Amino acid sequence: MALTFFFLFFASHLLYCISGQSNSMESVPDLQNTMYTDVDGYPCVRLLSLSGAIGCSNPGRDKVVAPIVRFENVDHVSELSSILVSFDEFPALFTRLSTDPSFASKVGGVLVEPVIDSQKKLNGFSPDKKFPQAEFAPYHNISYEWNPIGSDIMWKSYNFPVFLLTESGTKILQEFVLKSKDKKEAYTSNVAEFDLVMQTMKSGTHDSESCLKEGTCLPLGGYSVWSSLPPINASSLKPPKPIILTVASMDSASFFRDKSLGADSPISGLIALLAAVDALSRLDGLGGLSKQLVFVVFTGEAWGYLGSRRFLVELDEHSDAVHGLNHSLIEKVFEIGSVGKGLNHGAKNYFAHAEGDSSAKNQIMAALKHAQESLLSEDINIASASASNPGIPPSSLMTFLNKNPKISGVVLEDFDSSFVNKFYRSHLDDLSNVNSSAVVAAASLVARTLYILASETDDVQNSTLAAINVNVSLVEQLMDCLLDCDPGLSCELVKKYISPASTCASNYVGVILDEPSSTPYPGYINDVPRFIWNFLADITSIPKENNSSDCQQGCSGSDEVCIKAETDGKGICALSTTRYVPAYSTRLKVESGVWSILPPNASDSMGVVDPVWTESNWNSLGIRVYTVQTAAYDWVVLFGGIALTILAYLAIAVTRTLVAKATKRD
Ligand SMILES: *[C@@H]1O[C@H](CO)[C@@H](O)[C@H](O)[C@H]1NC(C)=O
Ligand SMILES: *[C@@H]1O[C@H](CO)[C@@H](O)[C@H](O)[C@H]1NC(C)=O
Ligand SMILES: *[C@@H]1O[C@H](CO)[C@@H](O)[C@H](O)[C@H]1NC(C)=O
Ligand SMILES: *[C@@H]1O[C@H](CO)[C@@H](O)[C@H](O)[C@H]1NC(C)=O
Ligand SMILES: *[C@@H]1O[C@H](CO)[C@@H](O)[C@H](O)[C@H]1NC(C)=O
Ligand SMILES: *[C@@H]1O[C@H](CO)[C@@H](O)[C@H](O)[C@H]1NC(C)=O
Ligand SMILES: *[C@@H]1O[C@H](CO)[C@@H](O)[C@H](O)[C@H]1NC(C)=O
Ligand SMILES: *[C@@H]1O[C@H](CO)[C@@H](O)[C@H](O)[C@H]1NC(C)=O
Ligand SMILES: *[C@@H]1O[C@H](CO)[C@@H](O)[C@H](O)[C@H]1NC(C)=O
Repeated sequence: MALTFFFLFFASHLLYCISGQSNSMESVPDLQNTMYTDVDGYPCVRLLSLSGAIGCSNPGRDKVVAPIVRFENVDHVSELSSILVSFDEFPALFTRLSTDPSFASKVGGVLVEPVIDSQKKLNGFSPDKKFPQAEFAPYHNISYEWNPIGSDIMWKSYNFPVFLLTESGTKILQEFVLKSKDKKEAYTSNVAEFDLVMQTMKSGTHDSESCLKEGTCLPLGGYSVWSSLPPINASSLKPPKPIILTVASMDSASFFRDKSLGADSPISGLIALLAAVDALSRLDGLGGLSKQLVFVVFTGEAWGYLGSRRFLVELDEHSDAVHGLNHSLIEKVFEIGSVGKGLNHGAKNYFAHAEGDSSAKNQIMAALKHAQESLLSEDINIASASASNPGIPPSSLMTFLNKNPKISGVVLEDFDSSFVNKFYRSHLDDLSNVNSSAVVAAASLVARTLYILASETDDVQNSTLAAINVNVSLVEQLMDCLLDCDPGLSCELVKKYISPASTCASNYVGVILDEPSSTPYPGYINDVPRFIWNFLADITSIPKENNSSDCQQGCSGSDEVCIKAETDGKGICALSTTRYVPAYSTRLKVESGVWSILPPNASDSMGVVDPVWTESNWNSLGIRVYTVQTAAYDWVVLFGGIALTILAYLAIAVTRTLVAKATKRD
C-alpha cells in the first residue's frame, strides 16, 4: 500500500515538473528566463570616508538569497527575509531597525515600492541630517536645525542591500508573486536574489585611505563649469575689473544613488542662474559696466563642497582651468540656492541670507530691493533672513567665507529659518516639488540685481532694468529637460548642444574616472555639466561676423572654444571664456593614476574636517526573483528517496526469495 503511494507521488511530481516547464525551452538562457525574473531598481550603494563606511552592501562576497516577506508580516517569520516595503512605511522600517535588534537580524535585503499615499507624502521625508554638512559651517551652533525633518538615515552603514524599485520593477514583482500564488504549491517559496557585492567588502578595505591604496574604490568628484559675461580678454592691457561671482550647484544626493534629482535643492537655483545669464546676455554694452560678471556652477557640493573648495585651490595655483580670474578681485559672491518653492498664495517670497560687513550687506540688500521694485507687477517679495539664524544656511558661500572671512556674499533662498523643502536630498525632490513661476521670478530678481551690482552708479534707471527680462519658455524648457525623464535630456534644447548618455538626469556627482584636467576628455564628463558648459559658452559668446567656422582645423584665437562639437562632429568656434574646473577633495592627490590622501593642513580648515568620500567599485548591481523549493521539501524528497531505495531493496530481496522458493519447489 505504502509502496504504491510513494510511487504515485513521485511519478506524478516528476511528470508535473517536466510538463510544467517544458514549453518552448530550447537552451540554457531559455531555462534561466523561465526560472529567474530580473527586477529593475535603484540601489543604495556603499561609500567610504576616512573614518568608515555609509550606504548599503551585501554582507560579504556572495549574493544574498532570501524569501520575500511583506514588512507587516515579518513578525510571523523567523528566517532571514527580503523585506518588501511600500515607501510610506520606509521611515518606519528604519526606526524599527535601530530599536529592535531581533527584527534587524531578520533583514536580508530590502525592496522598496515607490508607491506613495498622497496623504502621507505631505509629512515629508529627508534622509539627510538636521544640519546638513554642519562640520563645514563657519559658525559653531551646529545643533541648529535647518532641516528639522531630517532622519539622517543616508549617513549610516547597512550590511544588507536596499533597492528602490522602478515602476516597471514593481509591476514585474507583483505579477511574479501573483503567478506563483496561483500555482499554490505547498513546498515552494518566492525568493529575491540581491547582487550588491562591493569590492571594498570583498577585500576588507573599510575606509577611503585603504580602498584607494588597494584600488577598490574611486574618489567622488566631477567637473564644475565657469563662464564670464562678457568674455574676459586675458591679454588685454586694461586693468582687470572687480568680480561679482554668481554661483549655483548642479549636484544633489539621496539614499538611492541614481535618484538624486534635487529639483528644489539645488537645480531650481541652477535653472534660475542659466535663465539670468541668458537674460543678461541679450543686453548690449555689458563691457561698459564697472564690474565683471562671472558665473560658476559647482559640482560635488553635496559631498563636502568639493567643487567650491577645489575652485579656490585652482585660483591659488593660477591653474589653466581658471586662467583670467584673480582671487583677490572677487568682490562679492551671489549664490542662488533653492528657489523653486518660493511661491505662497501667488506671491513669490525669497530670503537673502547675507554675510559681510554692514555696508556691503546694505549694498546687496539695496540692489535686491531695487530689482524687486522694478518687478512690482509680478508680486515678488524679498526680505533679509531672520537675525536669529546662527549664520548662512548650508551653501557654497561657506567655502568662500572659510577662505576669506571678510568677503561679502548673499545666498538667495526660498526659506528663512528652516527649509521649506520637505524632501531635501530625497528622490521625492522632483519636478512636482517645484513651480516654474517661482524659478522665473528668482531669475528675474537675480538678473536685475546683478546688473545693479555691476553698475558703477547706485541709481540704475528703471527703464534700463525693464529691458532685462527672463525668457519664461526657456525656464520651462530647462525644467522639462533637467527635471523630467520625458523628454528629459533628449529634449531639443539639450540635443542642440550635446549627445546625452541617458535621458533621465541623475544629479549624483559620480566618481573621477581619469586624472583631473582643465581640458578633460568629454566622455568622462557627465551629461549635465557638458550641457551647461556648451549652453553658457554659446549664450555668453561674442557674435562674430563670420560665424560659420567649424572646429575641425581648431579655433583661431586662444579665447575661442569649440561648442556643439558632439552633435555634428564639427562644432562651432565661439569667442567665450567658459571652462571646466575639476571638482574633487583638496585632501587628494593623483600621481600616475594612483590616488593618495594628503595629510591635513591647518591652513585648509575645511580640508581638515573633510570626510574624503569615495565610492566602492563593484562588478554588477541587480536583483532577480525566482521560486525555490523550501528546505522542508528537500528533506521530504531525500527521506522519500531513501525509503524508496530501502523498500525497493526489500522488494527485490523478497521477490528473489519467492522466486528461489518457487523454482526450488518445481
Ligand atoms: C543654537 O541655535 C538654537 C536655535 O536658534 C538656539 O536655541 C540655541 O541656543 C543655539 N545654541 C548655541 C550654543 O548657541
Ligand atoms: C584682447 O586684447 C588684445 C590686447 O589689447 C587685443 O589685441 C585683442 O584683439 C583682444 N582680443 C579680443 C578677442 O578682443
Ligand atoms: C590679482 O589682483 C591683485 C590686486 O589687483 C594684484 O595685486 C595681483 O598681482 C593680481 N594677481 C595676478 C596673478 O594677476
Ligand atoms: C505654479 O503655481 C501657480 C500658482 O499657484 C499655478 O497656477 C501653476 O499651475 C503652478 N505650476 C506648476 C508647474 O505646478
Ligand atoms: C523705479 O521704480 C520704482 C517703483 O515704480 C520707484 O519707486 C523708483 O523710484 C524708481 N527708480 C528710479 C531710479 O526711477
Ligand atoms: C525663449 O526660449 C525659447 C526656448 O529656448 C526660444 O525658442 C525662444 O527663441 C526664446 N526667446 C527669446 C526672445 O530669446
Ligand atoms: C551666423 O550665420 C548665419 C548664417 O550663416 C546667419 O543667419 C546668422 O545671422 C549669423 N549670426 C550672427 C550672430 O552673426
Ligand atoms: C569665413 O572667413 C573665411 C576666412 O576669412 C572665409 O574664407 C570664408 O569664406 C568665410 N565664410 C563665410 C560663410 O563667409
Ligand atoms: C598647507 O597649505 C598652504 C597653503 O595652501 C601651503 O602653502 C603649504 O605648503 C601646505 N603645507 C603642507 C604641509 O602641505
